[in-house]
Amino acid sequence: MLLRQHRADDAEAVFQQCSDPEMQRWTTVPVPYERHHVEGFFAHLARGWDDGTLAGFAVEADGRFAGTVDLRLGEARWAEVGFGLHPRARGRGVMTRALSTLLDWGFTELDLVGVHWRAVVGNHASRRVAEKCGFRVEGEVRGLLVARGQRDDGWVGSVLATDPR
Ligand SMILES: CC(C)(COP(=O)(O)OP(=O)(O)OC[C@H]1O[C@@H](n2cnc3c(N)ncnc32)[C@H](O)[C@@H]1OP(=O)(O)O)[C@@H](O)C(=O)NCCC(=O)NCCS
Repeated sequence: MLLRQHRADDAEAVFQQCSDPEMQRWTTVPVPYERHHVEGFFAHLARGWDDGTLAGFAVEADGRFAGTVDLRLGEARWAEVGFGLHPRARGRGVMTRALSTLLDWGFTELDLVGVHWRAVVGNHASRRVAEKCGFRVEGEVRGLLVARGQRDDGWVGSVLATDPR
């Protein structure tokens, strides 16, 4: 498992990943997902690196693009994590390793105090990844998350730099 910058030749795999029903059920990707959305996503990542609001990495597994993991940088040295994998890479602990690596980097290189995690209630795979990476699930917030005009209850959790992981 490797975290690296996104590359233009990741575009087809990003398109496949974001066309997947699990991505469309649990994240805010556009539906239907069209090829031009990939260009918009790459531009969004580049802007985030430029203005320091988003640190987004491609996840590589077995030498291939496997997904994306990011830190959305907020106030008071806190960030929020976001992640998603290509269907072929799921179920093998890839995201747990990727997120753990990203947390190490965020706590050491960015000197973060803590990282939030949020997911639509019922996204058990996301919750397991968060728990395995040391997040404490702290509650359920009614109507927290909005995707494509639909509002869902959300699970929230956090991990502090000082927590054992
Ligand atoms: C969430 C996601 C990134 C997980 O990646 P992954 O590499 O498959 O995760 P891991 O293999 O590290 O761990 C997955 C864990 O969830 C569990 N899991 C998977 N599907 C599950 C389900 N439907 N119900 C309960 N547990 C589930 C697995 O058993 C595993 O836990 P375990 O190690 O205790 O057995 C991947 O499923 C994904 O891309 N989903 C769609 C996008 C998404 O939901 N992103 C998060 C938005 S908050």
